[in-house]
Amino acid sequence: MHRKSFIILSLYFILGFLNACSDSNHESKEEIIDAVELINTNFPNKRSELSVLMRTLYNDTKAEKKLLTNKEYSSIDWISKYANLLTVKQTDDSNNDKVFEAFGNSFLSLLKAYQNTTENNRISNYNLLITDCMNCHQAFCLGPIVIIKKLPITIKK
Ligand code: HEC
Repeated sequence: MHRKSFIILSLYFILGFLNACSDSNHESKEEIIDAVELINTNFPNKRSELSVLMRTLYNDTKAEKKLLTNKEYSSIDWISKYANLLTVKQTDDSNNDKVFEAFGNSFLSLLKAYQNTTENNRISNYNLLITDCMNCHQAFCLGPIVIIKKLPITIKK
């Protein structure tokens, strides 16, 4: 096989895997996410705005978890950063219906609750937020559930 066609074939294979909402239980999803960065740099137009927003959201929540487990938290202005969740372009715009809007609004209000949380409720509000990621993903986009499952923080009694 020619080198070039091999590369193209491999890319199709990888991109197929990456299909954000595919229901794959592939364990190394996190490695795949890293590989996405690489592909994004080379094919910037392949991802929808929502997909890019979600990637950022995932990175932010993952970093937040790390901070929270060290009794710290970020200074991210979550409310403004993710305010356009409901209006950005999606890969599959037929998803953009009333149900999505309901999930989206619920998420935005939990984001607000997290940002304005009292110290005592910080971790439980964070966990509520992650549960809401799950809820929307169960309805719209199964693929990332594998990695979202790793985001909740177990509260030690
Ligand atoms: C209101 C619904 C909704 C909520 C809430 C939501 N997501 Fe998503 N997410 C989606 C949809 C729809 C996509 C597919 C985007 C596309 O392809 O355009 C997606 C895609 C993703 C992706 C894959 C991005 C890619 O293209 O590789 C990740 C990772 C992700 N979401 C993580 C999260 C995390 C973490 C949270 C919570 C902090 C969250 N999502 C909350 C609907 C949601």
